Amino acid sequence: MVSRTGDLPSHVLEQMAHSARAVQAQAYAPASRFRVGAAVLADDGRIFSGCNVENASYGLTICAERAAVFHAVACGVRAIRAVAVVTDLVEPARPCGACRQVLAEFGPAMQVHLLGLSGASVATTLDRLLPDPFTFHSWP
Ligand code: THU
Repeated sequence: MVSRTGDLPSHVLEQMAHSARAVQAQAYAPASRFRVGAAVLADDGRIFSGCNVENASYGLTICAERAAVFHAVACGVRAIRAVAVVTDLVEPARPCGACRQVLAEFGPAMQVHLLGLSGASVATTLDRLLPDPFTFHSWP
């Protein structure tokens, strides 16, 4: 994957990373022990965070990225410019397919910043991770 800096001011990306790291501590992951934090940047500049929340009925688990999107939408957001995702892996984890689809609903070309431990990071865009998504324009 090609890494790109994107056009986010560095202090905004730092705020997003800080928010994602803070919420990662709240992850509820008794099954996997894999804690994920995500922060999305709304078009009005607000940042919303979310963590993964697992369930004894495994399929009901929600990923951090979708939790962050739903948090933002519940606060009135309808357009997202960027997402930051943190884990405790050295190599930054990629968002799952379901999260890519949900993110695309609110910003199909948004910037994506994937952050690992020790400063490792990948910067890309959602349209590279999910080209040609299903949309509300996809049916007649
Ligand atoms: N998980 C996320 O939070 N985001 C992803 O994009 C992939 C996976 C979570 C779900 C589950 O709680 C744990 O990671 C292991 O799959």
